[in-house]
Amino acid sequence: MAEPVNVNEFQVLARQALPKMYYNYYTGGAEDQHTLRENVEAFRRITIDMSTAILGYKTSAPIMIAPTAMHKLAHPEGEVATARAAAASDVIMGLSYMSTCTVEEVTSSCNAVRFFQIYVYKRRDITAFMVQRAERNGFKAIILTADTPRLGRREADIKNKMVAPQLKNFEGLISTEYVSDDGSNIEAFAAVTFDASLCWKDIAWLKSITNLPILIKGVLTSEDAIKAVEVGVAGIIVSNHGARQLDYAPATISVLEEVVHAIQDKVPVFFDGGVRRGTDIFKVLALGAKAVLIGRAVVYGLAAKGEHGVKQVIEMLKNELELTMTLSGCCTINDITRSHVKTDKEICC
Ligand code: FNR
Repeated sequence: MAEPVNVNEFQVLARQALPKMYYNYYTGGAEDQHTLRENVEAFRRITIDMSTAILGYKTSAPIMIAPTAMHKLAHPEGEVATARAAAASDVIMGLSYMSTCTVEEVTSSCNAVRFFQIYVYKRRDITAFMVQRAERNGFKAIILTADTPRLGRREADIKNKMVAPQLKNFEGLISTEYVSDDGSNIEAFAAVTFDASLCWKDIAWLKSITNLPILIKGVLTSEDAIKAVEVGVAGIIVSNHGARQLDYAPATISVLEEVVHAIQDKVPVFFDGGVRRGTDIFKVLALGAKAVLIGRAVVYGLAAKGEHGVKQVIEMLKNELELTMTLSGCCTINDITRSHVKTDKEICC
């Protein structure tokens, strides 16, 4: 036998090492040995429950797929593969406005709960059409990304002269062929199409065209969080767009608590940015968010192994979170509290 890695394996070795009489003396219990078995079995019946609800939709873990653009660049099956993995792992799928599969393709491919992310185009009619198309297709919420009046300066994309494929949702509506000769075609596309005048009053417009709850994505301050609640959003996503917009914006985990305090449970706060480990998720929950969204982790899984890779990524994070919860004495998500973590401010002072 290889080196034992747990107590049960030592028991096997002990059995081999000892005469039966002595082995039985050590291992045995009384009479029917019911309690002996129960002592061990009772542990097995206590499980860690990571399930939670997001906007009332039950999910296996406080993890959502963040909307990220153009999954077909990572894998030929694109967002359909991602959505299937979300369904298989029972987590919510956030579909990007800039997806390479259509709303209908994603809808018919799986039964995952789906939220639809939007940018607001200067052509408001197109954005309204997309919102209503998502609603018709059974999407359960709109994620309004508020941190992208223009695209951040992504210098690698400029150097690579990054080219976007035609976005299938917009076929016949809007072309991505806004070619920039000297830089990123994606940046050029966004500069021409995105409405940089987007402001708070536009939430009222959005509410006038849909009955779906609206999550606002890209909040980093208590002031904006309070304002967002005033204009009637159903939830807030603390996000800096995976550090792709304003460089020197704060790391999202460093501002989460400020936002949570400002909101005072009026609406749920969600979080994204830099989540790579179950311990990261645990910290985010301890600091008051209800769930995390994962962006790059999903794209990495998709690029490496398609649907299966995305599922593996989600399951890895779930397993790591489960282990973290177990080792921290938390049986349910609600058992994770502020006292489980210390921030660097607390450590220094
Ligand atoms: C994004 N993100 C993003 N957000 C959004 O609202 N609409 C989008 O289309 C995209 N597209 C996109 C593409 C890629 C390649 C990345 C990496 C990110 C941002 C995304 O939703 C999320 O905020 C971040 O990805 C979270 O950070 P991590 O998990 O990638 O560290």
